[in-house]
Amino acid sequence: MARFKIVGATPLVGNVKISGAKNEALKAVALSLNIKNKLKITNAPQILDVVNQGKILKSTGSIINICNNNEIIIDTTYANNFDLTDTIAGKLRASIVFAGPLLARFKSVKLPYPGGCLIGCRSIDTHLDAFRQIGAKISEHKRIFSINIDEFHDSNIILKEKSVTATENIVMFASAIAVKTKIDNCAIEPEIIHLLLNLQKAGAQIDGIGTRTLIIKGSQNLKLKTYEIITDRIEAGTFVCAMISSGGEGEVSPYPADQLESFTRLIKSTGANFDIIDNKAIIKQSRFPLKPFSLKTGPFPEFPTDLQSPMSLLALRAKGVSLFVETMFENRLSYLEILRKMGASIKIIDRQTAEINGPCKLRSANIESLDLRSGITLLLAATMSEGETFIEKAEIIDRGYEKIDEKLKLLGANIERINS
Ligand code: EPZ
Repeated sequence: MARFKIVGATPLVGNVKISGAKNEALKAVALSLNIKNKLKITNAPQILDVVNQGKILKSTGSIINICNNNEIIIDTTYANNFDLTDTIAGKLRASIVFAGPLLARFKSVKLPYPGGCLIGCRSIDTHLDAFRQIGAKISEHKRIFSINIDEFHDSNIILKEKSVTATENIVMFASAIAVKTKIDNCAIEPEIIHLLLNLQKAGAQIDGIGTRTLIIKGSQNLKLKTYEIITDRIEAGTFVCAMISSGGEGEVSPYPADQLESFTRLIKSTGANFDIIDNKAIIKQSRFPLKPFSLKTGPFPEFPTDLQSPMSLLALRAKGVSLFVETMFENRLSYLEILRKMGASIKIIDRQTAEINGPCKLRSANIESLDLRSGITLLLAATMSEGETFIEKAEIIDRGYEKIDEKLKLLGANIERINS
């Protein structure tokens, strides 16, 4: 496992280019199982999660080539295996989205339970409940579950939660079978809208795109030559937080403002020197202290949970108490304990609620990432801290941020990757 060594404090100055969306690329890889021709995925981020999702796809008998120009070439013509129990699927949450495409193709799928992670138990109950509603049989044995269906027929599904991956699983399944499926209580994250548009382009008839009720008439003959991944809105927001909180300036582009309205509103409320011109976020050096704010996460279009921890960096630059309410994951405030160790004034009210009292200068520490988003937050906190900080398990951050040390170095950060 590698580690990062950061010497702060350094303002981040310059222009950063945002990569393709991790949380769309992972689903496009799974979707290829239902595409009859060779599929080229473009603008795919070169990150560990995509490499691992590709390894799982390969275990189905598919051919996948992850190029180093952000393109992925996939041919699933000879895929013949729907049993993924002996793969790394148990280590990658996103592996759950292979269920829908495999069930549509083979009427059967076997998967290990994707591990929970430090931010929450990550139940897949919403997924399994949805598959039961279309008449599938689910059997569970220890850490393995199987889904089988005898025949496809028209179905009406109500999702138990506005779950992103459960919506994607069912949508990919329904798009690849020649029956009509109505799905209520869908998540409507931008990555899902773009997935739906690509499925429509491939030949599925989909009504209600952009709403929480979809009516899909699928096809067993989906064809799509190219799937272009949209900009990663979470990476874009993360770099906006980084540049502002470090006292830096520059451009973050592309900045998909229409997909970040709740985030943009909150950033502006802090008084940070932030503007949007065309599809770029323009940051000028902000006058500190910033204004404190209240943040509450929720399903899109509410504030994105994946940008909750990066926002803590602005709270550290604000004068007064900022309130954080994390409604989505039960443990996603746990990184605050590490920020407290670095000198932040934090009041934990309950598992979902905390107050950050700023401003405060952070001191360096030797820290370990909990999850991907707390990892990047702590890495950026280290660039704001005086002195030398080591972040263990750099791979956790590499999971979701392409070439993070190179991008930060280009912005003037003093960061070094130490391979052990
Ligand atoms: C996806 O996870 C993303 N992962 C997550 O990104 C993201 O945080 C999450 O959606 C929410 O946006 C991928 O796409 C691979 P969920 P998923 O089922 O589908 C609760 C990252 O860092 N919830 O939408 O597993 C639910 O109980 C990862 O890139 C509600 O409370 O997430 C669960 O605890 C982490 N009410 C949590 O939210 C709702 O209406 C996420 O649920 C819907 C969900």
